[in-house]
Amino acid sequence: MTHHSKLVSPALITLINGDGIGQEVIPAARAVLEALNLPITIQTADAGFATFEQRGEALPAATLALCEASDAVLFGATQSPMTKVAGYRSPILALRRHFDLFANLRPAVAGEIDLLVVRENTEGMYSGRERLEDDGATAILERIVTARASERIVRAACEQAMQRRRKLTIVHKANVLKETCGLFRRIAFDVVKEHPELEVGELLVDTAAFQLAQDARRFDVIVTTNLFGDILSDLAAGLTGGLGLAASANVGTGRTAVFEPVHGSAPDIAGKGIADPRAAILSVGMMLDHLGFHAQADKVRRVTYNTPHSGSTSATARLIAEALAGVAQDEIELQS
Ligand code: NAI
Ligand code: MG
Repeated sequence: MTHHSKLVSPALITLINGDGIGQEVIPAARAVLEALNLPITIQTADAGFATFEQRGEALPAATLALCEASDAVLFGATQSPMTKVAGYRSPILALRRHFDLFANLRPAVAGEIDLLVVRENTEGMYSGRERLEDDGATAILERIVTARASERIVRAACEQAMQRRRKLTIVHKANVLKETCGLFRRIAFDVVKEHPELEVGELLVDTAAFQLAQDARRFDVIVTTNLFGDILSDLAAGLTGGLGLAASANVGTGRTAVFEPVHGSAPDIAGKGIADPRAAILSVGMMLDHLGFHAQADKVRRVTYNTPHSGSTSATARLIAEALAGVAQDEIELQS
């Protein structure tokens, strides 16, 4: 996924199913990965609400140790308790923080649309600095934007754009949020000077939403702050096939990155064997890029976007695995 990625051979990955349909889509994605026959060693680990209920920890130390030793983690989804439960902390948030995975990459592909939202994942409106004053009648949020976090997220977005159509859109609201978005914008325009090959534009976030809804084909890579990225990436997902196809990567500058479908544990359909496994499979595609298997990542994407969900998790995964094996076979025949 990133410039520093290289062929690590054999790669070590950890699969975490989590709760609900995570238990179904991650094994389905594993079957697809195994059909590729790559030099990848797979280990599995537990996390989530069921793990918390059994062992008192949502992300056990043993799971974290396995992740630390891994080049990549594939994470299904976990269920969050409806009410605040003492001691429970979301494992995906804990993993992002532990590995300092500051960049959230969310591709959206359908028809002629092929864009990537690069969202800052550590600060902004989600810095957790909220308080009530005035006896609860006034709520206050502090939005933190730092030069360091802005610089590294824009650099990550430039690297992505260089590997794509070389078009970058910086999204902000600096006309109103003059200090926070102003800083992000200033740093962004400094960083893009390192990549004169890029076609760089900027949009106010409301205009970006409008243009996405009107004609998303004009976008390649969008880089923005945390909350704006959260919202725009969901808008882009809604335009391109919904949760069944929405994959994501959480990357930092270290070795370990975490890949996950955007959807949650879907308790309404869990256990029925009907969940769409393609978001998890496309997350495997992003993981393969991170591990340096770029050609295989492209094949996974091509086949998965061309395979409709059959209605059965395992049948869809089997169709995709067989198509990938067929692609491999065609190439062997072409070469001989
Ligand atoms: P959700 O994504 O689990 O489900 C939303 C709707 O989309 C449901 O109707 C579900 O059946 C459907 N859906 C989701 N993924 C699907 C798939 N692969 N195939 C077919 N249909 C699919 O979101 P919701 O219902 O808001 O949250 C359920 C639980 O998941 C909550 O406990 C929430 O906290 C958790 N969650 C966890 C995430 C994570 O671990 N990263 C992310 C989002 C939610
Ligand atoms: Mg979201």
